[in-house]
Amino acid sequence: MKIAVRYHSDSGNTKKVAEAVALAVGVKAETTSYPVDDVDLLFIGSPIHAGKLPYEITEFFSEVGPAKVKKVAVFGTSMSGKSPAPLFDGIVRPRGIQMVGESYACPGKYLIFKRGRPNDDDLAAAAEFAKKIAAAIDEK
Ligand SMILES: Cc1cc2nc3c(=O)[nH]c(=O)nc-3n(C[C@H](O)[C@H](O)[C@H](O)COP(=O)(O)O)c2cc1C
Repeated sequence: MKIAVRYHSDSGNTKKVAEAVALAVGVKAETTSYPVDDVDLLFIGSPIHAGKLPYEITEFFSEVGPAKVKKVAVFGTSMSGKSPAPLFDGIVRPRGIQMVGESYACPGKYLIFKRGRPNDDDLAAAAEFAKKIAAAIDEK
């Protein structure tokens, strides 16, 4: 099974989570500037910007369809700690790509808020999430 990890990160919070996810599944985390091809499971990570996904994410998916990626698993950081999964839903499913039901999200520091996040516990939880998703898909 070929796994890839892509992320967008402006201030480094989502990058930290992407690296924990990638380490857990034995691949390298790359930014959305790196295209994907022939991937069974894509972990995609993003912050939330003004209630939306950054345009880099939308741009990335404009080049991606079911021939390139079979399944997508979402992770992210935001001040609220809310998952960006519902936002991904709107761009991933219309492209005919399956989304894994579970996502991972944690708080990410923003200005004076959520300092120190993601912390070690957040990164450990992200790694567990990645291993669980990868194992579940490998069984099928
Ligand atoms: C321009 C901007 C808009 C943001 N809008 C939101 C938002 O709507 N909701 C939220 O929870 N966090 C928001 N945040 C906080 C970021 O999502 C949070 O700091 C995230 O961890 C940043 O990830 P990054 O370091 O990977 O870029 C915003 C941050 C910026 C810079």
